[in-house]
Parts: sequence; structure tokens; C-alpha cells
Amino acid sequence: LSNNFDFSRSIANNIPPVPISGRAVVPRVKYDFTTAFLDPSSLPIEGLNLALKTALEDEGQDLAYYPHPQGHPKMREFITDKLKLERSMEIDPDQVILTTGSGQAVARVIELLTNPNDTVITEEFSYQGTLNILRRYGAKLVGAPMDREGIIPEALDKILHRLHKTATKAKYIYTIPTFQNPTGADMSLERRKSFLQIARNHNIPIFEDDCYADLRFTGENTPSLYALDDTNSVVYCGSFSKILAPGMRLGFMVVPKGLVENIKAIHLGATPSQFAILATLYFLKDHLSEHVQKLTTIFHSRKDTAFGAVGEAFGNIVKCDNPDGGLYLWLEFPPNCDLASILPKAREYGMSWGTGAGFSPGQDRKNYMRLCYGHLEPSIIRDGIHQIADFLRQEQII
Ligand SMILES: Cc1ncc(COP(=O)(O)O)c(C=O)c1O
Repeated sequence: LSNNFDFSRSIANNIPPVPISGRAVVPRVKYDFTTAFLDPSSLPIEGLNLALKTALEDEGQDLAYYPHPQGHPKMREFITDKLKLERSMEIDPDQVILTTGSGQAVARVIELLTNPNDTVITEEFSYQGTLNILRRYGAKLVGAPMDREGIIPEALDKILHRLHKTATKAKYIYTIPTFQNPTGADMSLERRKSFLQIARNHNIPIFEDDCYADLRFTGENTPSLYALDDTNSVVYCGSFSKILAPGMRLGFMVVPKGLVENIKAIHLGATPSQFAILATLYFLKDHLSEHVQKLTTIFHSRKDTAFGAVGEAFGNIVKCDNPDGGLYLWLEFPPNCDLASILPKAREYGMSWGTGAGFSPGQDRKNYMRLCYGHLEPSIIRDGIHQIADFLRQEQII
């Protein structure tokens, strides 16, 4: 008998293989365009310190009790007011459930709605984390064609009719309508309405992931799908990762009243730490718009730098939209360019990016590149994009 127990045969069948990204994040390279970190210097450390101190003086003794099963009531009221003001949503704080980031909200909703072999529609490119969780729950993924305004309603309609012919009904649609990850697509009001109409015609619910909605650089906010729907068929989630700190691990979901108890049943004991909630609440109740304004000003100028550098470095070899918000540029290369296989070598040269393969339901769209610019200094962004272009030329990828 070995004195080192081998767990490999004890692991349950539905646990996914260790993700490549999980192994590769550390150490980070100099030109790291892979992950959507925030700018460390933008974190309001002093403000958070003071907020937590005040919060503990006010209500620190409540730490002696277990928190409310849906999370701190005052935080849920704060979220309710914020969503009304910014996303035109009329909801009750009792519909809000706090989570450790929107990632946990995504996992809970998928757990709630998905049986093995259910068909779930996503955008043709979508957040890798969500795709992985959907796979883990045995969903069959169908990517709906999109343009710079997100899912194309006519294309969605065709897919749903096609599925219908094979006696398959899509279980739900997962969408990131505002500054989509990875493409930066942003649904216009008209697009939102026709998208909802198609989902309605086919009687399919929607899971709306709105975690980039605060990061608008120009133009007016468009109401969320949740706000525009009048049939109670949208489940919604959001996050404080993109406007405060991913390390805070704080997000939330908003579910139709009829689903609150079902979610509570699987979320028992899993609300976030009161420390994260209190620091966030006490800081943002006084500083929300000023802080978001500060962040979006930084991101806007970095996006301009990145977009300009892409034009200089790649010319018309790549197609790239100029997004009005969010944290990403999305580059489409000629179809034969494989930007996934070359990535390990690129890392050796100190550069990295996200590839279309990771963001596509079929893991096959290798000629796309996602660049996150939020956490990098402008000079690094510019140099890095030029270095990537030089490297791809040297490797005869372009
Ligand atoms: C679309 C989308 N949903 C959810 C998440 C998870 O973020 P968090 O758990 O930090 O809120 C991310 C992270 O990048 C994302 O892009």
C-alpha cells in the first residue's frame, strides 16, 4: 500500500478535466491580454477601508448570526435601486440573491435549469466559464449567429424552427446582451425587442448575463432584457467584479418570484462573506457614480489606444469593431489563421490572448483573438499589440 492515496479513481464522473487555463495563468506574461483584470491602481483601497470600518461599527455584531439566506437585505435593496435607475428594472429586493460573483450566479441558474442532453442556445461566441459549466451539466450547445448588435433574431428564429423539426425544444437561451464577452457586441433597443419577440414566439426563457452593463463609454444605457420583457421569462445576473474588484467575489442574480425558493434550495449557506458585502455596500452607497465614471474614463482611453494599435499593427488583415464599452477587443483573422495552437509559443515570448476556440460552443473557431486591455498601461498595450503582430508575421500565421 502506498502512503500517498491516489484519488484519481475516486473522482466523480461529471467532474471536468483540469482546464488548460487553470494551469496556465501563473506566471503572468508581460503582454497579458488574456484575462479581464482591473487596473490595480484604480482600486479604492482607502475608501474600502473606511467603508468596512464604519460598517463594522454600525453592524459588526450581526456577524454573530448566520446571514439572511438570500444575502444582506440592505445590499439587496441597494441592488434593486441601482437596477431601477440604470437598467429600468422594476423588481422587489426579495427577488435578489447574492452570490460570490456572477460566475456563481451562472452556475446556480444552469444547475437549476439544465438536465443532461438539454439543448441550450448561446451566442456563437460566449463566455468560456459559462460554456464550461453548461458542458459539465451535459447541455448540448448551439451557437446562434451574431453581429455587432448581438444575436441576429432571424437567425435565432431559423435555429429554433430547425430544432423544432427534430422534435427538440431549446431549454433556454443564455445571452450577454450588453458589451458581450468576448465580442463587445451591444444589443440596441430595437434588437432587444425583436430578440425577445422571437424567444416569446417559441416560448423559451432567457438567461441574461449583464455583468458589463456598467462599463459604457458613450451613448445612453439601453434597458435590460429583463426590463423589456413582460412575461416573467428572464432570469438575470450581474456583478461587482467589473466595477469594483473581481477579488471581492460579489455578484447577484434576479429571478422571477416563482423561482426564488428553488434557487434558495440549492444556494443554502452559500451567500458571500459579510465582509465583502459590507465593504462594497458602504463604499458604493456614497461613491457609485463617481467611481464608475473614473473606471470608464480609464477603460475608454485604453480601448482607444488598443483599437488604434490594432489598426496600425494589422491594417486590413483583421476585422475589429470599435466597441462603446466593456473590456474587450475582438479580432477576426483570415479563416486559415490558427491562433490557438501558437499560443504556448507566444507565451514563451511574453504575450498571450484569448482565442476563439475557447469561446465557441464547438471549440473550433481558431481564427479569432480576444484582447483585454483594462489592466494594462497604454504603452504596454501599444507595444504588446505590435509585438503580437510581429510574432504572428514571424511565425507566418499572417
Ligand atoms: C459574461 C461573464 N459572466 C460572468 C463572469 C464571471 O465574473 P465574476 O464571477 O467575477 O462576476 C464573467 C467574467 O469575466 C463574464 O465575462
